[in-house]
Amino acid sequence: MKDKITLLYNGNEHEFPLIKGSENELAIDIKTLRQNTGLITLDPGYKNTGSCISDITFLDGENGVLRYRGYDIADLANNSSFIEVSYLLIFGELPSKSDVEKFENDIKEELLVHEDIKTILKSFPTGAHPMGILASLTSALISFNPGSVDVRSDEKMYHAIVQLMAKFSILTAWVHRKHEGLPLNYPDISISYVENLSKMMFMKPNKNYSNQSVITSALNKLLILHADHEQNCSTSTVRIVGSSEASLFASISAGISALWGRLHGGANQAVIEMLELIKRDGGDTKKFMSKAKDKNHPFRLMGFGHRVYKNFDPRAKIIKQAADEVLSDLGVNDPILEIAKGLEKEALSDKYFIERKLYPNVDFYSGIIYRALGIPTQMFTVMFALGRLPGWIAQWKEMKLNQEPIGRPRQIYKGRKHRKI
Ligand code: CMC
Repeated sequence: MKDKITLLYNGNEHEFPLIKGSENELAIDIKTLRQNTGLITLDPGYKNTGSCISDITFLDGENGVLRYRGYDIADLANNSSFIEVSYLLIFGELPSKSDVEKFENDIKEELLVHEDIKTILKSFPTGAHPMGILASLTSALISFNPGSVDVRSDEKMYHAIVQLMAKFSILTAWVHRKHEGLPLNYPDISISYVENLSKMMFMKPNKNYSNQSVITSALNKLLILHADHEQNCSTSTVRIVGSSEASLFASISAGISALWGRLHGGANQAVIEMLELIKRDGGDTKKFMSKAKDKNHPFRLMGFGHRVYKNFDPRAKIIKQAADEVLSDLGVNDPILEIAKGLEKEALSDKYFIERKLYPNVDFYSGIIYRALGIPTQMFTVMFALGRLPGWIAQWKEMKLNQEPIGRPRQIYKGRKHRKI
């Protein structure tokens, strides 16, 4: 195979190196393109553009493969805890027993936020969307934890990581409690990270709380499945914001805003709203399938399709099975699960969806589990954000350590030519 790409332009030949990834994926290295030819590339939505070289997550969309640091997503989802997977993503290796104990204990040491955060939280109107509150509070944390992190100092970076993992879980629980009108509470450091999250979210002031293993194990699995997904919209946002030397917390806050949109993480909320709409409308899935295929109708089948997966989303397979298990363990009978399965069946045998390689994605069944756990629809994307946190941190750290230049795409200008006033 040729190891260079030749571009013929204006009678001149220009050569560009071919870059090969560890799983043999290929890219043309165009770093010298503009300098040598005066040309730029144009690729709206970056459908063909690699923005970085990364060691963190491998994704093969044609074959439905997703690996964190070389480990298959199914192996991790079935055998590891969210804290272990967070450690793997951020530090590169699965932790030993003592490593993970230390990591979790260090996070517990930071399980407190400044009391003034409560004042900020309380000042949001009732009914404010939890994602907007989460992005704002994450931004507000900067004021209480000032200074940018020196990524070359292992000690300072480690401290920032455990701080963020700890405080973000409190914000997640408090955003939920605000949404539900429940009093704000404090963490219990005698239990695991995910058990504490569950307790902080669901504990009622008028009831004793006891952890249910079915809830913590479902949360663990969902958080792991969302933990990283290479250069998606929010992760690219985190990297690009960080590349301007904005702080870690500020970069994560920007990532939360990017995740909120319904074409990205916000799809989990949109899926349940769509399924409820179909149910209210009498359950005629065929009618909604036709709308989804109608180019003149804005309706899309939410939870279907993916920029990278063109065969199946391995996370969706695991979540679909988990949805059956969790609902049965909790004794929940949710009619919208049947509507979802009916829609999936129809879509998988429909020419429009087959031709465009549209399959259920991670968001198609996740909301059904969140709902069964008692999490309100508007909180779904917040749960996704907590899961994605270690991925965002790992990607931000990698970008800084690789000393990537500031992210700054170019454009082709098609506006008015020079004119005088
Ligand atoms: N329903 C109906 N048609 C669709 C859908 C859908 N969900 N998704 C894509 N298409 C059609 C689209 O209209 C286009 O058709 P045509 O070629 O005739 O113009 C074709 O399929 C290709 O779609 P695209 O919009 O060019 O593909 P993309 O890679 O730019 O977008 C996507 C990917 C995920 C934004 C899109 O599939 C979508 O909007 N899906 C619904 C929202 C969703 O579930 N998002 C969650 C994604 S996974 C989790 C995450 O990223 O956070």
